Amino acid sequence: MTVDSAGDGDRHRAARYGVGSADSSYTYQTWDYFKQLQNLTSLPIILKGIMTVEDAQLAYDNGVKAIILSNHGARQLDGAPSSLETALEIHAEAPELFKQMEIYADGGVRYGSDVLKLLALGVKAVGLGRSFMYANCYGTEGVAKAISILKREISIDAANLGVGDLKKIDPSYVKWENNNWWSWRMDELWCGFDSVYILRRRVVYSLSSSALWDFS
Ligand SMILES: Cc1cc2nc3c(=O)[nH]c(=O)nc-3n(C[C@H](O)[C@H](O)[C@H](O)COP(=O)(O)O)c2cc1C
Repeated sequence: MTVDSAGDGDRHRAARYGVGSADSSYTYQTWDYFKQLQNLTSLPIILKGIMTVEDAQLAYDNGVKAIILSNHGARQLDGAPSSLETALEIHAEAPELFKQMEIYADGGVRYGSDVLKLLALGVKAVGLGRSFMYANCYGTEGVAKAISILKREISIDAANLGVGDLKKIDPSYVKWENNNWWSWRMDELWCGFDSVYILRRRVVYSLSSSALWDFS
């Protein structure tokens, strides 16, 4: 259930080409409404579009089993934080949430190292939107190729970072330094990651095992 687009997205670049958005009216969402929906199914309803530690906490307090940190691919609100920044805020202020509920993230994930930064904070899985949308221009083959490129990047980046088992990655692998650009101008091509989050290579794996890097 998307919770980050109560109104139409203000997309200046798209507007220049006369392209609009599917949202034509405002959406009114409340925790009571969420509970009504959740009561209709035994499947967990996941909230997509969480952008603050407060909302992550509220979601947990209201019985939500999983959330997706997302700013709608930076298509809704200029200046909104990237999912990495939100993950960082949760890491700083309520890190226990990463254990109490499943936290996923999407937006601006383009390279293996983007994936590793999110996983390092405790994010369970990441999503990619446009990468697969563009890959799909080449059909199944294109999507399969995008997956294989990303898989390889995750493997080699993890190896170079000193991570032998993705399940064992933790926050110590990244130097979480803020560049004081808490948010910046975002458009639909760029919505998230800044090199200020420096990966810290740690030599904690056995050099002998090449099978170690097969994360499939
Ligand atoms: C063309 C397009 C349409 C989208 N429509 C929706 C939507 O209807 N609901 C929604 O929750 N997110 C929507 N999104 C956002 C994606 O679900 C996802 O959060 C975002 O694309 C992730 O960022 P990325 O494209 O940088 O990977 C859309 C994204 C794109 C590119």
